[in-house]
Amino acid sequence: MKLSKRIQEMQHSPIRKFYVYSNEAKKQGKKVYQLNIGQPDIKTPKAFMEAVRAYDEKVLAYAPSEGIPELIDAIRGYYARYGMNYDRGNVLITNGGSEALTFIMTAILDSGDEVIVPEPYYTNYTTFIGFSDGKVVPLTTKAEEGYHYAKKEAIEALITPRTRAMVFVNPGNPTGSVLTRDEMRMICDLAKKHDFFIIADEVYREFIYDNGEMTSFGQYEDVADRVIIVDSVSKRFSACGARIGSIVTKNEELYSNLLKLAQGRLCCPTIDQVGSVALYNLDPSYFNEIKAEYERRRNVVYDELCKIEGLVCEKPSGAFYITAKLPVENAEEFLIWMLTEFDDNGETVMFAPAEGFYGTPGLGRSEMRIAYVLNEKDMVRGVELIRLGLEAYNKR
Ligand SMILES: Cc1ncc(COP(=O)(O)O)c(C=O)c1O
Repeated sequence: MKLSKRIQEMQHSPIRKFYVYSNEAKKQGKKVYQLNIGQPDIKTPKAFMEAVRAYDEKVLAYAPSEGIPELIDAIRGYYARYGMNYDRGNVLITNGGSEALTFIMTAILDSGDEVIVPEPYYTNYTTFIGFSDGKVVPLTTKAEEGYHYAKKEAIEALITPRTRAMVFVNPGNPTGSVLTRDEMRMICDLAKKHDFFIIADEVYREFIYDNGEMTSFGQYEDVADRVIIVDSVSKRFSACGARIGSIVTKNEELYSNLLKLAQGRLCCPTIDQVGSVALYNLDPSYFNEIKAEYERRRNVVYDELCKIEGLVCEKPSGAFYITAKLPVENAEEFLIWMLTEFDDNGETVMFAPAEGFYGTPGLGRSEMRIAYVLNEKDMVRGVELIRLGLEAYNKR
């Protein structure tokens, strides 16, 4: 039986294949520091579970397709604290940021339409855009330039009559880079000039360091009709398993069409929405401690990385990832060697080779991404293991 060309052209997670090696290492009794995935270890706020436990309806019914009004209002309240004002009809609840992105691509792309995505990028964009048979147009960035991508000429060079949108993961996954206000202004002007949507994936919005200010594309009123904000409780509240995200847009035509997709999948889990109301109603001071924790981790990881001779990396300003160029030709081969051949006192480490985060073939081969989702001590040890591994690897 025949499967679609579209599905066959999609890729499996580029990280998945390394689990075979890490599982084998664990079977042999090695401790593997898992720095490869964005699953935070921060505790989910108790308020989530308390709200779920207190839920006492006789029937666990479908929720409204657009989301329960209590959650929509809690999200509106959250944005209002940042000076962003939305009506109920601007917020659509989705099954995580992932469904939000799938819906958005379905709503704006015809087959062959193009979306400019700065690379390296969150790999699932290939899948989200692939669902609609759209085309990822990568905007290449470099480790040597701190993976900054907001260069007007470079962006304009990629714009064609088929450009429908540009994606901004801000703060960035996998690079941790953050846009400045001036850069955002320039991007808004480009979007107006060339008539494309700004897909603002801001699921890491709060995680900005060095006293940097939170900014959102939602704060630029003159482009309100072309900004589509993607949000999620996954990283913000360390609630990845809740599968609650949202799309926020002031473009009524877009919202109305997105609603067709939401109606088609009936609703998001009622219980998870109930728990998420409590998350969005948390006092904003909740983020202070979490942010301070991630910032400490970023600092120790960066300091530890700087001890590695020949490594190229700029200190990232946000999210909880660092991408760096390693002094090896092929980071994938190095990782497999780390998992199969190397250990220091029975310990080794897993990171994500960055080649899979690039759309341009051949790029990123010597780069890796690490997620600082473990406590400080473990992060330091994890990076130390990379350093010790590199010393041994390059001596072979
Ligand atoms: C940049 C970015 N966008 C969206 C998502 C989707 O997350 P979720 O579906 O859990 O909300 C992730 C998850 O890692 C991400 O890193």
